[in-house]
Amino acid sequence: AKPLRELAAAKGKYFGSAMTVSELEDTQNRVLTAREAGVITVGNEMKWDATEPSRGQFTFTGGDRITAGAVADGQRVRGHTLVWHSQTPQWVHDLPASELRQAMLDHIAAVAGHYRGKVFAWDVVNEAFEENGTRRQSFWQQKLGDGYIAEAFRAARAADPDAKLYYNDYNIDGLGAKSDAVYELVRSFKQQGVPIDGVGFQGHLLLGGVPASMQQNLQRFADLGVDVAITELDVRMTLPADSAKLAVQAADYGAVARACLAVARCVGMTTWALSDKHSWIPSVFPGQGAALPFDASFAPKPAYQALITAF
Ligand code: XIL
Repeated sequence: AKPLRELAAAKGKYFGSAMTVSELEDTQNRVLTAREAGVITVGNEMKWDATEPSRGQFTFTGGDRITAGAVADGQRVRGHTLVWHSQTPQWVHDLPASELRQAMLDHIAAVAGHYRGKVFAWDVVNEAFEENGTRRQSFWQQKLGDGYIAEAFRAARAADPDAKLYYNDYNIDGLGAKSDAVYELVRSFKQQGVPIDGVGFQGHLLLGGVPASMQQNLQRFADLGVDVAITELDVRMTLPADSAKLAVQAADYGAVARACLAVARCVGMTTWALSDKHSWIPSVFPGQGAALPFDASFAPKPAYQALITAF
């Protein structure tokens, strides 16, 4: 079969994968990703702790290596992520509100400015809501209040006028209180002229856990006038994997791909790495894993076949 990146492109979508420096240095992984992924999301190296470990001291080494690799492999790059509560240095957490706002604006100007013309999209703000739809009580929210998200998007637009600006979150893949809250944010931004171009649905799913309302949910966001994308797909299971679980997982991957394909403004889907060798799941959810379309030896799993079939 043709690689996923070609099959998706023929449907007017992209298929992508996350990539880190260590994953780029894994030659088998690099070759597989070059073959299958037309888009790369930078897994860690554009986050705040990587790019501005101390105030005003910017390091772009890792992100630059990944973007250079993507150029060499004919891939486009999604930037990830400018404003998040996690993987942000302690000095940022410790700033008083008066300085935190300026630090956020300076960070966005420097990082999105550096990658201007090199990334086609940014996850500007990541994971700002709780499961019940209230704002996450992060240090951003506590010190800057509700307005920080709009300020971040305005700063990102100024720094890189050509990048598509996304709000990105997990557990918003289907209808529910959290996705309702993001919907309301996007609706109000559109009404007020706050620059937002897309919503990223992370898609960190449990086995058998594709929401039945996923297509409907993607469509309602698209109907607000933004692009939508599946940005970090993986489907985790309790280890060890077996053929029954892998079959359910394959159905899950196929269902997500079909939901995106059915929505004109769903621009593409990205998995959070391709091989189980490089998945973040086992380290964060003990006893869980086998979440990606290729196994730890880079052999295709039923989930890969399901993606091929869907595209
Ligand atoms: C993960 C990375 O994959 C890990 O290497 C890191 O230790 C933690 O972050 N949501 C996101 C991603 O938006 O940035 C996270 O990536 C996974 C969850």
